[in-house]
Amino acid sequence: MGKVKEDSNENKTELSLVRVKGTWKCKLGKSDSVSAAKIYESITEKGTSWTVVSPIVFTYKVTETQDLLDPSNNTLLLGHITDPQQLEDNKKSNKQIKRFLVVDQDVYKIYGPKLTKYLEANNVLYKILALPTTEENKSMKMVLKILEEVDNFSLDRRTEPIIAIGGGVCLDIVGLAASLYRRRTPYIRVPTTLLSYIDASIGAKTGVNFANCKNKLGAYIPPAASFLDLSFIQTVPRRHISNGLAEMLKMALMKHRGLFELLETHGRMLLDTKFQVDNGVYGRNCLQAASQSTRIAIVTMLEELVPNLWEDDLNRLVDFGHLISPALEMKVLPSLLHGEAVNIDMSYMVYVSKESGLLTEGEKQRIISCMVGLELPVWHEACTMELIQKSLNDRLKHSGGLVRMPLPIGLGEADICNDTSCEILDRAYAKWCDELSVSSDSNSDS
Ligand SMILES: NC(=O)c1ccc[n+]([C@@H]2O[C@H](COP(=O)([O-])OP(=O)(O)OC[C@H]3O[C@@H](n4cnc5c(N)ncnc54)[C@H](O)[C@@H]3O)[C@@H](O)[C@H]2O)c1
Ligand SMILES: [Zn+2]
Repeated sequence: MGKVKEDSNENKTELSLVRVKGTWKCKLGKSDSVSAAKIYESITEKGTSWTVVSPIVFTYKVTETQDLLDPSNNTLLLGHITDPQQLEDNKKSNKQIKRFLVVDQDVYKIYGPKLTKYLEANNVLYKILALPTTEENKSMKMVLKILEEVDNFSLDRRTEPIIAIGGGVCLDIVGLAASLYRRRTPYIRVPTTLLSYIDASIGAKTGVNFANCKNKLGAYIPPAASFLDLSFIQTVPRRHISNGLAEMLKMALMKHRGLFELLETHGRMLLDTKFQVDNGVYGRNCLQAASQSTRIAIVTMLEELVPNLWEDDLNRLVDFGHLISPALEMKVLPSLLHGEAVNIDMSYMVYVSKESGLLTEGEKQRIISCMVGLELPVWHEACTMELIQKSLNDRLKHSGGLVRMPLPIGLGEADICNDTSCEILDRAYAKWCDELSVSSDSNSDS
């Protein structure tokens, strides 16, 4: 049951997502609740009203691939097509493929020649827009710049998806631009950082910063496909590998003890080898740890995101580390990277868990040591009690009156808490500063 044979090389397993004790789990087989669109007409003396129930189904692919820019690999050009007949027609067609690509400027410096060679070898009519897609430039201005160029290029919005190649910033900006162009133009994500590989490429969110707030403008429109090639990570600076490991650790702490243990044991190796094959001291071990950890991170992320693509359910474990960090990240921009701010938030929350009796002292210490081993900051002077309180109050306002704070309970399990007292928050803050401010100072000196 659940296996669907599509072609001779592919065995597909259908997984349903089932709510289990506040979290989501993949299960084999079909879900029973399939809804269809309906209109409910109601007639009163004042007039008629129609209530529309219109289920929208998004289908998108998240595909691991090797050598994405090898001219013989057609994934980048055709991998988003899910209908076998359409794929066959495309392969047979003589029509020239046309693609608009937006590439992070720094990524373009490294991979531009390979990308150009790939497109030319495949006889693609293309335009590459290389842009400085930094967090400071993550704005509507950049979205409009892209849209003007897209419009000049005049693509067929049904069959010619826009391709984004870069880190999370590039993917978020291009995703928003595509979702605005002609109301929804398909787009493809090619993540080139670890963080975007395991996080920004997996879900539906796009966005830009606005009014000094992170991702305040955005849409929930998933890409047609995300193509994941680990080899891009080899050129990512070490600090940005740590940055991605923070989001991986988030999933580990919320849902997967095995992933936590993997990061605890092999974190240093993953940092040293940048998730690549290593012919030196680490040998084959590292490739196994790299593929295991990325896969677990992706599947646990998919489990949480897919049943809640538009985040209607406000109880979200993936929000761990994201209650205080948005304000912190914006406050000190550009000194903290996204994952670093997330880690500082998680580190404080680990103390809140401990003070709430949900974690033992030993578990707390293991988590903090793991964070330090991943070379992530565990404390920051700008993360004041005032900022924490303001962030949690804002959260209350936007989360239906409940704070919905995801907290680890033990290693690899979590709960959503709504009744953490001010006293616990204060006590956790005092301990957090007391125990970690010194070690963070010495970290930043080295
Ligand atoms: N949409 C989502 O669901 C989602 C999820 C998580 C994070 N995000 C967003 O993602 C952003 C952070 O993403 P990020 O950490 O990838 O940052 P980023 O896009 O700024 O990339 C980090 C840096 O690495 C460089 N770079 C990228 N790939 C490289 C490569 N292969 N080799 C060398 N250098 C490379 C970039 O030029 C940049 O300087 C944030 O804005 C965050 O809000 C979105
Ligand atoms: Zn994040």
